[in-house]
Amino acid sequence: MSEKPLFLGVAAASSNEQSVAETLAAALSVPVVPPNLDETGLLLLVKETALQLQQIGPDAPGPVWVDFVEGKAAHRRKFGGGRGQPLAKAIGLKKGWTPRVLDMTAGLGRDAFVLATLGCEVEMMERSPVVHALLADGLERAREDADIGSIISRMKLQHLDGRLYRTAHERPEVVYLDPMYPHREKSAKVKKEMRLFQLLLGDDQDSAELLETALTLASRRVVVKRPAKAPFLAERKPSVSISSPNTRYDIYLTGSHNAAT
Ligand SMILES: C[S@@+](CC[C@H](N)C(=O)[O-])C[C@H]1O[C@@H](n2cnc3c(N)ncnc32)[C@H](O)[C@@H]1O
Repeated sequence: MSEKPLFLGVAAASSNEQSVAETLAAALSVPVVPPNLDETGLLLLVKETALQLQQIGPDAPGPVWVDFVEGKAAHRRKFGGGRGQPLAKAIGLKKGWTPRVLDMTAGLGRDAFVLATLGCEVEMMERSPVVHALLADGLERAREDADIGSIISRMKLQHLDGRLYRTAHERPEVVYLDPMYPHREKSAKVKKEMRLFQLLLGDDQDSAELLETALTLASRRVVVKRPAKAPFLAERKPSVSISSPNTRYDIYLTGSHNAAT
């Protein structure tokens, strides 16, 4: 595997964003760098429109940022198949039951947003400070939106390694895991977001441990998202799986009163 590229720091797109960039850089304990830095690596770019993760150097893909208001997330909210979509079935959504979900691998919050759109309260955890900053920025910008503000209010984000999570109150009914999976193919087949994430984070080597924690926490089920042909996480056979063309959801029932779907 190639080495992780250097995370270079936080840059401001213009002088208007300089003080925000400085505050964020201090919070992440990384330097403030110029946006046109002549190096290769990754940086967070503070723009008026959004916080962006950007690779710089030859063959770099475009930036990644979190946008719940427009683009893919909005499209999926409107046309994604509602409660009939595989993710909704996997977490067990049905009439009269809308579970509280703990998403221990929040990433860019896309799956959590789908679940919140369907009415779930979603507690999210993200351990990477850079990914956490991107997601926190996306949530903040969407919070005041007239159409989706109420959905965003169901999403709570913590900067935490899920393995350290302890319930303060009620146990989550469903724990959802979507750890980084080692994609070996190059370029177009692997989406831009995943390529940047793999450069930034590498693979999640400790996801077997996360599954163990999840199984002790969930009062009803743990759902693990995997590529369609991937082996089971930690070679642990699920109670049942739900498959779509590219993705498989492995379901581990943990409660006594469970129906599989
Ligand atoms: C494939 S991404 C998740 C994508 C997400 N489901 C979405 O819809 O945007 C995996 C994320 O989980 C995070 N992660 C992995 N292990 C974690 C852990 N133990 N605690 C918190 N976050 C973790 C990684 O940092 C990465 O951002």
